[in-house]
Amino acid sequence: MEPFLVAEGISKRFPGVVALDRVDFDLRPSEVHVLLGENGAGKSTLVKILAGAYRPDEGEIRLDGVPVRAHTPSAARLAGISTVYQELALAPDMSVAQNIFLGREATHGRGAILDIEEMRARTRELLHLLDLDVEPDEPVRRLSLAKRQGIEIVRALAWKSRALIMDEPTSSLSSHETEELFARVARLTAEGVGVIYISHRLEEIERIADRVTVMRDGRVVATVPRGAVDQAELIRLMVGRQLSETFPLRVPRPGDEMLRVEDLSVPETVHGVSFSVRAGEVLGIAGLIGAGRTETLRAVVGLDPKSAGRIFVAGRPVDIRSPRDALGARIGLVPEDRHAQGLVLGMSVQQNITLASLKMCSRRGFLAFRALRDLAERYIARLRIKVAGPSVSVGTLSGGNQQKVVIARALAAGSDVVLLDEPTRGIDVGAKAEIYELVAELAREGKAIVLVSSELTEILGLADRIAVMREGRISRTFERGEATQESIMAAALPIEAAA
Ligand SMILES: Nc1ncnc2c1ncn2[C@@H]1O[C@H](COP(=O)(O)OP(=O)(O)OP(=O)(O)O)[C@@H](O)[C@H]1O
Ligand SMILES: [Mg+2]
Repeated sequence: MEPFLVAEGISKRFPGVVALDRVDFDLRPSEVHVLLGENGAGKSTLVKILAGAYRPDEGEIRLDGVPVRAHTPSAARLAGISTVYQELALAPDMSVAQNIFLGREATHGRGAILDIEEMRARTRELLHLLDLDVEPDEPVRRLSLAKRQGIEIVRALAWKSRALIMDEPTSSLSSHETEELFARVARLTAEGVGVIYISHRLEEIERIADRVTVMRDGRVVATVPRGAVDQAELIRLMVGRQLSETFPLRVPRPGDEMLRVEDLSVPETVHGVSFSVRAGEVLGIAGLIGAGRTETLRAVVGLDPKSAGRIFVAGRPVDIRSPRDALGARIGLVPEDRHAQGLVLGMSVQQNITLASLKMCSRRGFLAFRALRDLAERYIARLRIKVAGPSVSVGTLSGGNQQKVVIARALAAGSDVVLLDEPTRGIDVGAKAEIYELVAELAREGKAIVLVSSELTEILGLADRIAVMREGRISRTFERGEATQESIMAAALPIEAAA
């Protein structure tokens, strides 16, 4: 089929950056067109231009062959282009039905009276079509992230969208929720909707892409149909070099116990969790979303109050009630939710990276500016953070590059115990390999590392021991070499499902 949405020669510059350089892109009805590229390649910028959120400096967008003028978010929406951004845009206190029809309330006759019954009925129909188990009157605030995303898709259908843009929709979904999303995407394409899909998960691409466009440094390097190139070739196109996704070889030499957690409990989420990590050791924590892994780490560093439990660092009991206490005990956390806990958006990249290292870099009471700058520059290079320089405001970075800044901060603080919560979420393949190498290096330096990850290959490839959590408890612990994907899954699944 002919493309109905065409972008031609699109360029977009931000101060100091060419985000897009004469990009051509198009979308056909009923296809899933995947956008692939390293962090900062320009993917989000391109879809924001298609959705009318940014205005291009050059180039043209055509719908059904007609150039689009005054492309604003509402004009784009009326023209049938809907977007599911990574930060979901629903109004939390309104109901599901209100959210779906927000800005386009069903009207009666000539007057602009919204017909609530009709809205409800139509909502119910669409929820059913997409297999979403929610009530139209439920406030959105109470729904899980996956369901909220489902609502955004329902909204796209309700508005009779022709194009739906999804920017990293699965980065916070469980594997089950991801399957449900794929089924919904298939429904959309069956209805004739074209889908633009951004993801860093290469294995998803083989499953849902009809075409793949690879971007690098603001340019399109290739657009290929499904199956025309394999994963290795996609990676090569994306990063411009050969890259093997292997894990660093490491001979574990665990030293003395560095962190011990005893009988840790958090109301409703964590029930009597105990574990220990030695110097030079990587402890992996596997489990399904909602098993209490994030809550465990948060309670250890004092972000959430614990109802019971003791924490020992290097054999000595420590009283941690706040992240500041944790830092004092030399425990650092890379949080899962980088926006809520991670970044100070108004500050520079350097300030964000060195936030927890100020003490380390101060001499006789004066901050050693040189030292701070060097520290920031080291991590910018190491993690391939795409930024013009350390003084750039962190809020202007691409999603994945912001994530890297959060990781850099925890590592730069030089803590003895490093807790990593989903460190590679939203990170491109090249930088992932770099993060694996950094974890191995920290272990070699004698740090104790706790790694929470939903990617089993990552846990299996990096961890010396693996604890599996299920429903707030550790259900099983494996020694290195003892675990397989299957045995981890068996220990992670709810008891009734496993039986
Ligand atoms: N509002 C902005 N102000 C300044 N620079 C920006 C802005 N938005 C994006 N950029 C820059 O444009 C470039 C492309 O960013 P974009 O967000 O499109 O990348 P991306 O491909 O979506 O990356 P990621 O995979 O990390 O999400 C980056 O260098 C980014 O720093
Ligand atoms: Mg992005």
